[in-house]
Amino acid sequence: MKTALITGASVGIGAAFAKELASRKIDVVLVARSQDKLEQLAEKLRSQYNIKAHVIPQDLTQPEATQLVFDAVSQQGLTIDLLINNAGFGDYGTFADRPLTKQVQMIQLNITALVELTHLFLTDMKKRGAGAIVNIASIAGYQPLPYCSVYAGTKAFVLNFTEALWAENKDSGVRLLVVCPGPTESNFFVAAEFPQTFSGGQNYTTAEEVVKDTLNALEKDFSTLVTGGFTNQFIVNLPRFFPRDTIVSLVEKQFKPKK
Ligand SMILES: NC(=O)c1ccc[n+]([C@@H]2O[C@H](COP(=O)([O-])OP(=O)(O)OC[C@H]3O[C@@H](n4cnc5c(N)ncnc54)[C@H](OP(=O)(O)O)[C@@H]3O)[C@@H](O)[C@H]2O)c1
Repeated sequence: MKTALITGASVGIGAAFAKELASRKIDVVLVARSQDKLEQLAEKLRSQYNIKAHVIPQDLTQPEATQLVFDAVSQQGLTIDLLINNAGFGDYGTFADRPLTKQVQMIQLNITALVELTHLFLTDMKKRGAGAIVNIASIAGYQPLPYCSVYAGTKAFVLNFTEALWAENKDSGVRLLVVCPGPTESNFFVAAEFPQTFSGGQNYTTAEEVVKDTLNALEKDFSTLVTGGFTNQFIVNLPRFFPRDTIVSLVEKQFKPKK
C-alpha cells in the first residue's frame, strides 16, 4: 500500500490515522475543512516520516465536494490504495428542538459524502483489482439512540451499507471494513453539543487504539470491527436478546437531557 486518503483528518481519529499510516511509510492525502490544521499536520508528517502528504481542504457537506476531491486526486496523478471515510459528526438533544439544518448536514456528511466517495474510489479500485475502503460508523449504529436519533440512523446506514459492499466485493481484490468505535477521546462530544456533565458511563478509548485495531482488522479482512473491548461488545449484542422497545426505552433513560 502506497497512498491513503483520510477524510476528517484535521483532528481526532482521522489525524491519528494519518500519523499511524505515515509512520508506516504510507503517503497520505488529508481532507477536512480546516486548511491550517491540515497544512500543519502534513508538514509535521513530511518532516517526521519523510513521506508525501497532500492537503485537500473541502467542506464535504457541499454539493460536488466529493467529485472535487476525486478530481484533485486525479489531477495530482495519485492512486488511492486506502480510502478512510472518517469525517462525521453528531448532535445531542430532542430532535424536534434541534436545528434542522444541522441534521441535514449530518446526513450529507455521514451518509451522502461517504457513499459518493466510496463509489468514486471503489470503481477505480475494482478496475485495478486492489485497494481498501474503511468506513467509520459507531456502536450507535446498532440500536436507536434517543436524543442522537439522526446520528444513530446515519451510523446504522454506514454499518449496513459497508457490510453489504464487503460481501459484494469479496472476490474483487478490494477490501471493505466498517469500524464501530465506542466513546473515544476527540472533539466529537463538543461538536455534537453534549453538555460537559454528560457521561456515557463507559471508559473512553483513545483515537490511537481505534486506529491500531482498525489496521489489524483490515489485515485480517474482517467485514466489521467493534473497538473498545468487552463493554462495547456487550452493548452491540444487547438488541439480539431483548425486544426493541425495551432497549430503546433503556437507552432513552440513559441519554435523557438533565433538567
Ligand atoms: N469520538 C467518538 O466517541 C466516536 C465514537 C464513534 C464513532 N465516531 C466517529 O468517528 C469519526 C471521527 O470523529 P472524531 O471522534 O475524530 O471527531 P472530531 O474530533 O470531531 O473530528 C471530526 C473530523 O471531521 C471533520 N469534519 C467535520 N465536518 C466536516 C465537513 N463538513 N467536511 C469535511 N470534514 C468535516 C473535522 O474537520 P474540520 O472541522 O476541519 O472540517 C474533523 O477532522 C466520525 O465519523 C464519528 O462519528 C466517533
